[in-house]
Amino acid sequence: MSHLKQSFSVKFEYQIYFSAGLFQPENRTFADFLNIRQSSASRKIFFVVDEGVAAAHPELINNIKTYFQQHQEVQLVADVMVVPGGEPSKNSTALFDELIAAVNTYGIDRHSFVAAIGGGAVLDLVGYASAVAHRGIRHIRIPTTVLSQNDSGIGVKNGINYRGKKNFLGTFAPPAAVFNDEQFLLTLSDRDWRSGISEAIKVALIKDLPFFEWIEAHTHQLAARDMETMNYLIKRCAQLHLDHIGGDDPFETGSARPLDFGHWSAHKLEQLSNFAILHGEAVAMGIALDSSYSYIKGMLTESQLQRILNVLHALSFDISNPLIQISNSNSVILTGLKEFQEHLGGLLTITLLTALGVGKEVHEMDEQQLIEASNYVSAFMLEKTGVSTINH
Ligand SMILES: NC(=O)c1ccc[n+]([C@@H]2O[C@H](COP(=O)([O-])OP(=O)(O)OC[C@H]3O[C@@H](n4cnc5c(N)ncnc54)[C@H](O)[C@@H]3O)[C@@H](O)[C@H]2O)c1
Ligand SMILES: [Zn+2]
Repeated sequence: MSHLKQSFSVKFEYQIYFSAGLFQPENRTFADFLNIRQSSASRKIFFVVDEGVAAAHPELINNIKTYFQQHQEVQLVADVMVVPGGEPSKNSTALFDELIAAVNTYGIDRHSFVAAIGGGAVLDLVGYASAVAHRGIRHIRIPTTVLSQNDSGIGVKNGINYRGKKNFLGTFAPPAAVFNDEQFLLTLSDRDWRSGISEAIKVALIKDLPFFEWIEAHTHQLAARDMETMNYLIKRCAQLHLDHIGGDDPFETGSARPLDFGHWSAHKLEQLSNFAILHGEAVAMGIALDSSYSYIKGMLTESQLQRILNVLHALSFDISNPLIQISNSNSVILTGLKEFQEHLGGLLTITLLTALGVGKEVHEMDEQQLIEASNYVSAFMLEKTGVSTINH
């Protein structure tokens, strides 16, 4: 028996810049980033823009063109590609093919950049196409939703849906840089503004009590779309996600996935609603269910649970939606447990709470107690709103 050994490590480092009006001529944030990346080769940058963003910001594409006339650090590819936004962009390979064709047509090589401006879905699509074209073109992310600025856009994952399976094709590929521009958030619908807040509640609950208490004290400002409050929430949430990703398992080789607190039912719910329920909305419902289950299990006190449910309610999350209710062991949401296990590819690992700010992993969930947990959330909402949503 003989063998050879190969071993090396690759360091990844990228910045998340916070700015407002990224493509205003006087804003040097983007140009300075491109400037410090000196390279002898002639470099290009190819922009892909989410159609929803282009429609809400009709001046954006012209601003990009003007910006690159003034800042010639890299050569802007003349055509800016506009792609449909939201989940449909990840649902077919047609757009992926178009992106690869554009890389070919415009001669985008590994010294160049692909920059994506959009919600999490468009960033996932463009990140994936960039990661596989020429075995990896550097991609720049410019997230335009709360969820993508505080969670999905700042991490290392990308992907598209394939054969009906969410994120079936994808890679782990850190971005070259991320630019969060608060001005994009001004044009979000109220639902999209609110839905990303649940990821901040999630990460606060598993890792950071002071952050949870801060959210608890600021629900009113968040609901009223106060930008300064949202800026703090996004930055803190992004930092907690970065700390976690930069920890033991950035490329998710193990089965523990604490950042997926509340997500086993959320994934199922998104699918059951045919994506009518937004990811963040589903996560809020999943947090309510798993927090309530933590209480039923005796891990959390009732007053701790009530604080969580009150925060979700104050932000108008519909946490007792009939689709998430578990009334008996045939409730379809329960199949989400098995699917989540398949998604992890190993032991079922669910994060619960032992205190506000402290997560704990468990490897089984009791159906009867899940039914009790679900009933608790419904009864809580009935008391708050006077509306019965019990699903018989
Ligand atoms: N890669 C990851 O780690 C990761 C993590 C979580 C979620 N995701 C993915 O993120 C996606 C959800 O992303 P999302 O919540 O950002 O929403 P989204 O990308 O689905 O966008 C929602 C809608 O808002 C529009 N839009 C985006 N920005 C806008 C703006 N500034 N003004 C007006 N309209 C705007 C889009 O056109 C779209 O119609 C899902 O596909 C999910 O799988 C990825
Ligand atoms: Zn999520």
